[in-house]
Formats: sequence, structure tokens, C-alpha cells
Amino acid sequence: MKLIVAVARDWGIGRAGDLLFKVPQDMEFFKNTTINKVVIMGRKTLESLPGGKPLKDRINIVLTRDENFKQEGCIIVNSTEALFEEIAKYNEDDVFLIGGGKLYNDLYHYCSEAYITKFDAVVNADTYLHNFDEDEDWLLTYASEVHDHEGLKFIFNTYKNLALEKENN
Ligand SMILES: NC(=O)c1ccc[n+]([C@@H]2O[C@H](COP(=O)([O-])OP(=O)(O)OC[C@H]3O[C@@H](n4cnc5c(N)ncnc54)[C@H](OP(=O)(O)O)[C@@H]3O)[C@@H](O)[C@H]2O)c1
Repeated sequence: MKLIVAVARDWGIGRAGDLLFKVPQDMEFFKNTTINKVVIMGRKTLESLPGGKPLKDRINIVLTRDENFKQEGCIIVNSTEALFEEIAKYNEDDVFLIGGGKLYNDLYHYCSEAYITKFDAVVNADTYLHNFDEDEDWLLTYASEVHDHEGLKFIFNTYKNLALEKENN
């Protein structure tokens, strides 16, 4: 599986159940990368989506400990073991971990790649991502040119999980 996220300079990713940045070019990158694929999210991230509804044209897998939780158009799993059983049904390159903080930080070790949009700003956050730049198990393999949205600068980075690669070889 792969991870996709947008971060601030201090690796903040969210505040009060919402995203820190909503920039069309990043939203488009997210959509183009995940469309017709499988997305995994925590229950809180599902609830942060418009109307608490799943993402269109994607298989949506939602993790919650609430065994009675239901949402139309979502596959619900109640443990990481159940999640791994579910994602074994798909091509692992087609599976994307899309948040939020709890899921990213518990599951990033299992991701082969991370697509990280980095915004050159710090916004008051309450949810943070592990710092991939300070983790020698992760190698930066791609950095885009610098983009600009109304003065807000951002880049698209890709990191590879060297530890997982080593384990699989
Ligand atoms: N910047 C980005 O790219 C990005 C992307 C996505 C989300 N976000 C932000 O991240 C924030 C939400 O993150 P979060 O950490 O609060 O919540 P989250 O990771 O979306 O969801 C956490 C919930 O997932 C369920 N869960 C987690 N581990 C589980 C396990 N092992 N077994 C069963 N269920 C499990 C639990 O649901 P129950 O409580 O129902 O049991 C838990 O409360 C929001 O601010 C959102 O906007 C940012």
C-alpha cells in the first residue's frame, strides 16, 4: 500500500477534524492518484468528508472499533488484522492510505511509498504526521518544481520505504 498526505512545514496535517490546506492543484493530484483505486481511512477522516460520505469512484475502506458502524458505499473493518485481510484482495500498488493522523502514524511502516505534498507554511494544527525527512528508512525519490497558489508555495515529494524494500528482498 501507499500513503498520500498533505503536510505543513512542521508536519501538521489537520485541525479540528479538517484539513489545513485546500488547494485545487493538490486536490486534483489526490483525485488523479486515487481514482478507481482503493482508499483506506479512519472513521474520523470519513466523517470529515462532505456529508460523511465515501469518495466517489474509489473502493472506500474505513477502520473503526465500532462494530455497529455502517455507511453506504464503505467497507467497514474493525481491526488492523481485518484491514490487512481485506486489502490482500487487491493489487497492493492500488491501495492508498489516506488518513488521518492515527492511521498514518500506526500504518506508515507498511507503506512502500509516500506521496507527500509539502506546503511552505505553518498553520496551527492538532494532528501531525511522523517526520519522513528525519527517518533514514525513508528515501526522497522525487521532488517536483515549486508550485504557487495565491502566494502559498508547495511541492510534491515522493519517498520510498527502504526498510520495507529490504524486508521484501
Ligand atoms: N493532510 C492530509 O492529507 C489529511 C488526510 C486525511 C485526514 N487529515 C486530517 O486528520 C485528522 C483526522 O485524523 P485522526 O487521527 O483524528 O483520525 P483518523 O485517523 O481519521 O481516525 C481515527 C479513528 O480510526 C479508527 N481506528 C484507528 N485505529 C484503529 C484500529 N486499529 N482498529 C479499529 N479502528 C481504528 C478509530 O475509530 P472509532 O473511534 O470509530 O473506533 C479512531 O478513532 C483530521 O483533521 C483530518 O482533516 C489530513
